[in-house]
Amino acid sequence: MAIERTFSIIKPDAVAKNVIGKIVSRFESNGLKIVEMQLKQLSREEAEGFYAEHKERPFFGDLVEFMTSGPVVVQVLEGENAITLNRDLMGATNPQEAAEGTIRRDFAQSIDANAVHGSDSATSAEREIAYFFGK
Ligand code: TYD
Ligand code: MG
Repeated sequence: MAIERTFSIIKPDAVAKNVIGKIVSRFESNGLKIVEMQLKQLSREEAEGFYAEHKERPFFGDLVEFMTSGPVVVQVLEGENAITLNRDLMGATNPQEAAEGTIRRDFAQSIDANAVHGSDSATSAEREIAYFFGK
């Protein structure tokens, strides 16, 4: 299995709940290494550009509002099968549908405030890493 890199965000709800460390610990204890990390406040433009694929969706305005409501932690995670592994650790988008033991099940309250973002494919990972950290 190849070593991959994926992009992760600890969202404003999780930062506000003081669970950055608990979430990072999930990554580390499952074999993902933090190779880039920054706490930052997203601008409206950054959030809109990041979620551009969802621009036409009805929840887009609220999503941008939420993602700029407080600081986030942007990270690059590295490890075997990192993209799929991170999505598995995150759980389903809607925390009420997320499996037991997943980050969203344990730390998220709702589908819009759902604790974490993770790249959904190699193409997304490449774009998202470049978006925040350059090449
Ligand atoms: P999506 O890419 O479908 O989910 P994921 O984060 O699991 O890849 O959606 C991006 C974000 O948009 C999602 O994390 C939360 C928000 N969202 C809503 O607020 N309502 C919705 O109905 C959906 C599908 C997403
Ligand atoms: Mg997605």
